[in-house]
Amino acid sequence: MTSIPKSFRIKSFGCQMNVYDGERMAELLADQGMTAAADGADADLVVLNTCHIREKAAEKAYSEVGRLKREDGSRPLIALAGCVAQAEGAEAKRRSPAIDLVVGPQAYHRLPEMVAQASRGARPVDTDMPAISKFDALPKRRRAAPSAFLTVQEGCDKFCTYCVVPYTRGAEISRPWEDILAEAHALVEVGAREIVLLGQNVNAWINDGRGLADLIRALARIHGLARIRYTTSHPTDMSEALIAAHAEVEKLMPYLHLPVQSGSDSVLRAMNRSHTAKSYLEIIDRMRAARPDIALSGDFIVGFPGETEEDFQATLSMVDAVGYASAYSFKYSPRPGTPAATMEDQIAPEVMDERLQRLQARINAHQIAFNQSKVGSDTRILIERRGKHAGQMIGHSPWLQSVHVETAAAPGDIVEVTLAAAGPNSMTGVVPAKKAA
Ligand code: 5AD
Ligand code: SF4
Repeated sequence: MTSIPKSFRIKSFGCQMNVYDGERMAELLADQGMTAAADGADADLVVLNTCHIREKAAEKAYSEVGRLKREDGSRPLIALAGCVAQAEGAEAKRRSPAIDLVVGPQAYHRLPEMVAQASRGARPVDTDMPAISKFDALPKRRRAAPSAFLTVQEGCDKFCTYCVVPYTRGAEISRPWEDILAEAHALVEVGAREIVLLGQNVNAWINDGRGLADLIRALARIHGLARIRYTTSHPTDMSEALIAAHAEVEKLMPYLHLPVQSGSDSVLRAMNRSHTAKSYLEIIDRMRAARPDIALSGDFIVGFPGETEEDFQATLSMVDAVGYASAYSFKYSPRPGTPAATMEDQIAPEVMDERLQRLQARINAHQIAFNQSKVGSDTRILIERRGKHAGQMIGHSPWLQSVHVETAAAPGDIVEVTLAAAGPNSMTGVVPAKKAA
């Protein structure tokens, strides 16, 4: 087609694992001598790192491709990556002639080579899930935000009946212990103060008989690393060892994202969730016994096929019983190829809309209550970036609240603040007078 691109842009959609993959693809391309295009500037290569989890994912990706056409009719080299690439494969080339290459989430270590092929006019597709890990072929970490992502586990063996992940990301695999520790050390060397361990089922991580709790304890010994988090966990893999780590490992932050999806046992059964409302609440109880101030977060789906008003009421009761500090809620979206997509009793869109509104109102009320409960407490904030106003910085509390604070501290610093005011989505912190001096 044209010459090898000199500049690139990566647009990541969806989950944090895609953000991590986007960072790694950027490092790979930079290794080839390409530079990241500045914000707003034109790029020779655009990588669309897509998400397939909900609502018209493929259509959205194709319309993104359409938008990349320049005013003079030309376009950059376009790579379709991520989960839509995995799901569509070669079909993507047929549907959109503008797509130059298609690379799945387990094959992106081949991106530079594929970009070179595409520049010569080929249209390569790689959606293989090779036994050899892509991680082995990636360059060393060179840059890290104060809070850095580190993927330790990928894929899913759970097969919830609504979910595409087992098909787009493949079977559960855990990265080896040594690789993770090496990457964590490298991240800390280049600026990370917090590491967020990522996996579709992060708490299913296992290597040579060691589990996530062992890994967290080893990471906690890294000098310079101040905070550890992990996401996303499955209730079934919430081991006693991991719960105990929350009681004992000071660097492990008091926050747990533990999706429940529904509060109704019959819906949970139809979703193939291998836990009940009661068994989920028992985990929450054990977690709170280990770490009383833990902030809880979750995911919910409303309008799963067959969901009655009574089922939905059970979901609202679950929200009240847990008292989430935050939670994500979604309308059920039939994903082609998943068992739920062809179930009877699909729920009407208006019913879903109305349930989603009621659920979100309930979640928001708990979120505000949680934020208000922290007003007046003294805590520590990891400063991550500048705020809108002069002198204002933004960071996170241990409970993952976004906190605005006036301070001369820089990104990466940890500052002591008093949480002075609560909003629905963020907190205001003040540096106590004697410490400000
Ligand atoms: N429809 C709606 N929400 C979904 N999720 C996963 N699959 C679907 C679907 N088909 C939600 C779940 C999951 C989160 C990442 O996305 O709540 O935990
Ligand atoms: Fe989207 Fe799930 Fe793929 Fe993440 S793993 S990009 S959320 S489909």
